[in-house]
Amino acid sequence: MKNHSKIDFQTKCVHSGIDEYEYGSVVPPIYQTSTFKFKSAQHGASLFAGEERGYIYTRMLNPTIEAMENAIAELEGGHKALGCGSGMAAVHTIFGALTQTGDHVVCSSAVYGPTTTLLNTIMKKFGVETTFVDTAKTDEVKKAIKPNTKVVYVETPGNPTLCISDLKEISDIAHQHKAMVVVDNTFMSPALQNPIALGADVVMHSLTKFLNGHADVVGGIIVVKDEQTYQHFRKTLNQLGGVIDPFNAFLVHRGLKTLAIRMERHCESAQVIAEWLEKHPLIKWIRYPGLKSHPHFNIGQKQHKGPGGMITLELKGGLEAGRVMMDSVNLFQLAVSLGGVESLIQHPASMTHFSMGKEARLAGGITEGLVRISVGIENVKDLIADLEQALEKVKIAQNKQHELHV
Ligand SMILES: Cc1ncc(COP(=O)(O)O)c(C=O)c1O
Repeated sequence: MKNHSKIDFQTKCVHSGIDEYEYGSVVPPIYQTSTFKFKSAQHGASLFAGEERGYIYTRMLNPTIEAMENAIAELEGGHKALGCGSGMAAVHTIFGALTQTGDHVVCSSAVYGPTTTLLNTIMKKFGVETTFVDTAKTDEVKKAIKPNTKVVYVETPGNPTLCISDLKEISDIAHQHKAMVVVDNTFMSPALQNPIALGADVVMHSLTKFLNGHADVVGGIIVVKDEQTYQHFRKTLNQLGGVIDPFNAFLVHRGLKTLAIRMERHCESAQVIAEWLEKHPLIKWIRYPGLKSHPHFNIGQKQHKGPGGMITLELKGGLEAGRVMMDSVNLFQLAVSLGGVESLIQHPASMTHFSMGKEARLAGGITEGLVRISVGIENVKDLIADLEQALEKVKIAQNKQHELHV
């Protein structure tokens, strides 16, 4: 997009990454091709030698993917971006690019389960050690940094505990020790939080979530700040091979156009639902970045523009009560993932964070009874009515249990 510096985020969502296309097409054409024909042997050779810019092979670069990458780089305030086949392909590419045997990583203890598992298995196998700390406590980050720490990896708000870490403070500390700060911004999206503006070096997202927003794509993205890092990451991604498909990139680019208005609705509805749940007699505890009772409410207020669409809670009666709730909802769908237009509910300890093991889960604050909700864009009254009838069923089940025991 030309002359974009003064344009509002909502307008950028519609226009970013869009260029002039053949036949006057207003959306990027889908170049569903694995390879690109050279004009001559000399042309092919000069493309490979980097003497000329152009497309060679889709694992290396593809115009449909590039349009989506440019759009997200612009929305995040980064230099360039790299589209990956999944959020996890992005995480793997990041550690592949930034670490080598003998290096050390400091990582939030509450992160998406497979990120923990990747660090504890594959990265460990290649000699990269990780210290997991509660990054909401900046002092713990400071203490964990060693002379060989290359990356401080922060997910904020963390999945699923919604812990909020101070990105500016963490970036200052990491940079004093020459470590790079990588932020998983999936739960916020660039509509609500821009880690690069707060000091981060690299931002990643699972595109599968809010950025695409329609639960029909698996993808990931890495946003970087400068050309040198971009070239290094591009080489790594080309070698590891975890690129996104052009059609999925097209769908993500389409989803981006409504990102700003979707995020507005996610935030509005989640706030209303969280306030309603907080007062419900069956709630043991609830965490939502928009509630004043959130332990890191003030950090959130400093660094995000809205509290997002994710809520976690535990019912009185723990896992058993949570299971009845999950089995009783009608509009909320019992499914993993998040950030789509439809509301979802799931149980991290037995689903998304199962692979971490109980010990690591509890260390990260992921209790066995924790239930995670992704608030979609349906009418909030319908969503509350659905939760109300599900909680009524929990009450009936608990009363029955009580009668059996007296
Ligand atoms: C915060 C976060 N990061 C990364 C991922 C991994 O993304 P993907 O499932 O697209 O590989 C997820 C998936 O749920 C996630 O929630």
